[in-house]
Amino acid sequence: MELGASAKAASYRLIVCDSVGSTNEEAMRLAREGDPGGVWLVAREQVEGRGRRGRTWSSPPGNLYASLLLIDAAPPEHLPELGFVACLALFNAVRGILGADPRLGLKWPNDILFNGAKLSGILLESSPLPGRGTACVAGFGVNCRWHPASLPYAATDLASIGTVLNAPEDVLPRLSDAMAQMLQVWAKGAGFAEIRKRWLANALGLGEPIRVALGTSSILGVFERIDSRGRLILRQGNKTQAIEAGDVFLPRHSTASPQSDRTACSG
Ligand code: BTN
Repeated sequence: MELGASAKAASYRLIVCDSVGSTNEEAMRLAREGDPGGVWLVAREQVEGRGRRGRTWSSPPGNLYASLLLIDAAPPEHLPELGFVACLALFNAVRGILGADPRLGLKWPNDILFNGAKLSGILLESSPLPGRGTACVAGFGVNCRWHPASLPYAATDLASIGTVLNAPEDVLPRLSDAMAQMLQVWAKGAGFAEIRKRWLANALGLGEPIRVALGTSSILGVFERIDSRGRLILRQGNKTQAIEAGDVFLPRHSTASPQSDRTACSG
């Protein structure tokens, strides 16, 4: 397992583990122990893999489980934007493998779908470090060789899509290079307008009817855009509503039951 050439040149480090609870938790532990950040923590398997909203992320060997630790990645008000940065980086990495396939797209806030099925998930977590700023971890789960069965939404993996580059070792170099590049574009929040523009250029569901589940209720509307803070702007008649977190259902892109998601950092 190796980082890409650009990531190495930019001094990112790599720690590879055989089995951990969660790479996000391990990365946060490194932060608490004084790691200066810029380190990728990758595991062959996770026994307590975490998904969004307290869900578990099934993590036996075969897929990529990777977390990037950043210390003071941006001023706190910009930290939720990191999900879009991570999502675009992963999208570019996957596109490097699959080519510019029109079946690839982004679902708000940071899922990559292939033909309507979820290929990857991203979990952002942040924590203050007393006297040392804020640790932020971007955790990537990429379905490489398999995807869980019996999910309440459609899922897929690189091997099922038919690419021979379907090992975690094929994805990590591309992902780490793309993440180094996107972090530069983001420039600690100063470049979010560009990130937002690139994200929107690949977004699924724009201008279409969607449903957003917010806790126990859900609302219907048209996905108008994302705003300058990355919030989903939902149009209902002549009113709009800005949504920071929720479960998005894209009926025109579903190959099975709709899926749900939320950014941990944006709470
Ligand atoms: C989602 O629910 O869509 C997000 C899933 C994120 C899973 C990754 S795997 C690597 C990192 N470590 C974890 O425990 N979770 C993230």
